[in-house]
Amino acid sequence: MSERTSRALSVRRITKSFGAHRVLDGINLEVEVGETVVVLGGSGEGKSVFLKHVNGLLQPDSGEVVVLGCPVSGRPESGLIELRRRVSYIFQQGALFDSLTVGENVAFPLVEHTRLSEAEVAARVGALLDRVGLAGTEPLLPAELSGGMRKRVALARGLALDPEVILYDEPTAGLDPLTGLAIVALIKDVTRSTGATSLVVTHDLAVATELADRVAFLAGGTFAFTGALADAARQEGTVGAFVRAGGVHA
Ligand SMILES: Nc1ncnc2c1ncn2[C@@H]1O[C@H](COP(=O)(O)OP(=O)(O)O)[C@@H](O)[C@H]1O
Ligand SMILES: [Mg+2]
Repeated sequence: MSERTSRALSVRRITKSFGAHRVLDGINLEVEVGETVVVLGGSGEGKSVFLKHVNGLLQPDSGEVVVLGCPVSGRPESGLIELRRRVSYIFQQGALFDSLTVGENVAFPLVEHTRLSEAEVAARVGALLDRVGLAGTEPLLPAELSGGMRKRVALARGLALDPEVILYDEPTAGLDPLTGLAIVALIKDVTRSTGATSLVVTHDLAVATELADRVAFLAGGTFAFTGALADAARQEGTVGAFVRAGGVHA
């Protein structure tokens, strides 16, 4: 396979500061098509900041991001619209529109980015909600949903345009362990059925155990470790301690 076709994303030497606070300090990551990489790290280490660089929601101070062969860094917002159709970002809090129904939320990217008829959109929304175990919930408002249901709706919306890359920010945050496991099972199923390349940001080792082909551990602004989860558990220092504290042992 040529490098061109097998590489889904390349992040090279990116740095990012907010004022005097350098959050990312030389981040490198290569992800192959179809691979799932779980980004681990403590709270406030910059996991969300990193993820936002992958689809250009944030721009690096230096370094380069290339996704699906397209440069993301250094590109104006207007140049990122096409790429964002192919790269789905599932936000930490779900980021549903509270004044829109579940059906309208899931329909949103279809209405924005496709020329499907109203009936086609409705059919597609129905299929997407069925896919995430929420068939028939179109008329509900986000306020009427549990935390787990909100995550499912966000996932349905994120799948609407058949993304090639899916970015998940803390998919189990704020959920009880059982609901969290159900979400992880759903993500696993989505990954298998779509073949999408996935980047999953989390501090939840159960997520890493279930989903990771590889893990990348963010500490001090760089990936202090990249490799198999079992090998991470064997590391000395913060990486090993973090992974073992989460119940993963080599
Ligand atoms: N837009 C921003 N402006 C200023 N500081 C920010 C901004 N976004 C994130 N930060 C800071 O960057 C650091 C990393 O944040 P974040 O990526 O959200 O951490 P994590 O997701 O690993 O918990 C934090 O100290 C946070 O306060
Ligand atoms: Mg975060």
